[in-house]
Amino acid sequence: MQAVVDFLKRNESRSIRDLCDYVRFPGISAQPEHREDLKACARWVTNLCERIGLRAQLCRTRGNPIVLATTRRTPSGDRRRPHFLVYGHYDVQPPEPFELWETPPFEPRIKGRSLFARGASDNKGQNLAHLKAVEAYLKTGTALPCDITFVIEGEEEVGSKSLVSFLREHRSALRCDAVVISDTGMPSLNCPALTYSLRGIAAFEITLRGPARDLHSGVFGGSVDNPAMALSQLLGKLRDKDGRVAVPGFYDDVRRLSAYERRQFKRLPLTERAYRKLLGVPALFGEKGYTPFEQRSARPTLEINGLTSGYQGEGSKTIVPAWARAKITTRLVPDQQPGNIVRCVRRHLKKLCPPTVRMEVEAGHGAEPYLVSPASPHAQAALRALELAFGHEPVLMREGGSIPIVTDFKTILGADTLLLGLALPDDNAHSPNEKFNLDCFAKGQLMSAYLWRELSRV
Ligand code: BES
Ligand code: MN
Repeated sequence: MQAVVDFLKRNESRSIRDLCDYVRFPGISAQPEHREDLKACARWVTNLCERIGLRAQLCRTRGNPIVLATTRRTPSGDRRRPHFLVYGHYDVQPPEPFELWETPPFEPRIKGRSLFARGASDNKGQNLAHLKAVEAYLKTGTALPCDITFVIEGEEEVGSKSLVSFLREHRSALRCDAVVISDTGMPSLNCPALTYSLRGIAAFEITLRGPARDLHSGVFGGSVDNPAMALSQLLGKLRDKDGRVAVPGFYDDVRRLSAYERRQFKRLPLTERAYRKLLGVPALFGEKGYTPFEQRSARPTLEINGLTSGYQGEGSKTIVPAWARAKITTRLVPDQQPGNIVRCVRRHLKKLCPPTVRMEVEAGHGAEPYLVSPASPHAQAALRALELAFGHEPVLMREGGSIPIVTDFKTILGADTLLLGLALPDDNAHSPNEKFNLDCFAKGQLMSAYLWRELSRV
C-alpha cells in the first residue's frame, strides 16, 4: 500500500496535467453541435485507460460513446474475486453565460489549489481520481485485492438514455458487488461524506401559444391574451406561500423523515448564515417547517430552470409575443415516482390553462429517487477509506442532485451504489467558474486507493 501512496504523491503534477487535458474537451451533451467533441473526449479517456494498464473499449451507442475499461484479463474475470464498478461521466453542462467566466470555460486555469474549468468538478476530476488510484496499483505492481471495471459515459447531464440499454447488454460482464460513484459533494475538506440518498427528477417543457405571430402591442395589446403573462400567472400558481408545491397529489407518496434522521442532519457543519452567503441571496426561502439542509436534499421541489418569451435583445420591442415557454424540473424523494408526478403535473396544468392560449406540455427525462442504508458492510468500508484519506471522520448525508442511473444499477445489476463525492459546496457545478479543489483531487485518489482494500475485506 505504501508503494501506491508514494506513487500518487510522486505523480501529482502529472495527474494534474492529465486533468487539464481532460477538461479541454467541450463535451456538452445538451448541445447537438458538440457530438464530435464528446466522441473525441471519449477517445481520450479510452487512451488514458489503456495507458494506465486497463483493458479499454470505446463502445458506440445511439448517442454518445461509453468507455468500458477493466482490470480483468478476461471479460468474465475470476468469479471468486470481488468485482466493483466505478461509474463516472465525461459530458458536461453548458457553460453559458460565457461573459460570467473569468477565463474561458475550456481553458484550464490553476489558481492556488483550485483548477477552474467546466467539468473540472462535475465530473472529470472526480472520475479521474479513481483512474489515478488504479494506475498507482498497476504501475507499482501492487496486487489489487479485487477486480475493477470503469463505466464512463457521455449522457449523464441529459438523462443517461444510452447507458440503460448498455447495462442490459453487458449485464453479465458488469455483474458486481457494488458500484462506486464520486459525483456528489462533501461539506468541506475537513469533512468527507458518504451520501446515502439522492433525489429523483421529472422534467417538463411547457409552451403557451397565443396569436399566430408576434403582434404590435400598441395596436392589438389589450384585446388578446399575452402568452408570457398567461404563463407567468400559471407558473405562479404552482407554489404556495409556504413554499410547498401546489399540485394536487404531489406529496402523496412522500415518505416522512424520521426523527433520527432529522437529528443527524442537525449535526452537519452548515450554518444558515454561511449558507446564505455562499449562495449570495438576501434571504433564504424554502418549504416551511424544514431546515435548509432538509429542503435541499430530503424534500421534493418544483423549479423553473428556464423561461423564454418575446424579445430578448437590447432595447425595447413593443410586441405581444406569439408564445412563451418554461423549462421545469421537479426533484423527487422516496417514494415518489416520476411517472405519477408527470401525470399529476400534466393534469393540474390542463386545469390551470386559460382558454385564451393553447398549451403544449412535453415530459422530458425522469429518474427515481435513491435511498440505501449507510449501515451496510460496504458502506462501513467506504467510511473507513474516507477517514484514512482525509484524516477526519466522515459524515452521512443526503444530496439533492440526481444521478439517474443509480436506480438502474440496482434493478439491472442488482448492485447498491456507494456515493463518495469529492465536490466542495463552492465548486460552482453547473455555474460559471466551475472549479475542482486539487486537495480533493489528491485525497480522492488516496481514498480510492484505500477503498479497494477496505471493500475487499468485506
Ligand atoms: N453530479 C451531478 C449530481 C449531483 C451533484 C448529485 C451534487 C448530488 C450532489 C450530476 O452530474 C447532475 O448534475 N445530474 C443532473 C441530472 C439530470 C440532468 C438528469 C442533475 O441532478 O441535475
Ligand atoms: Mn455529475
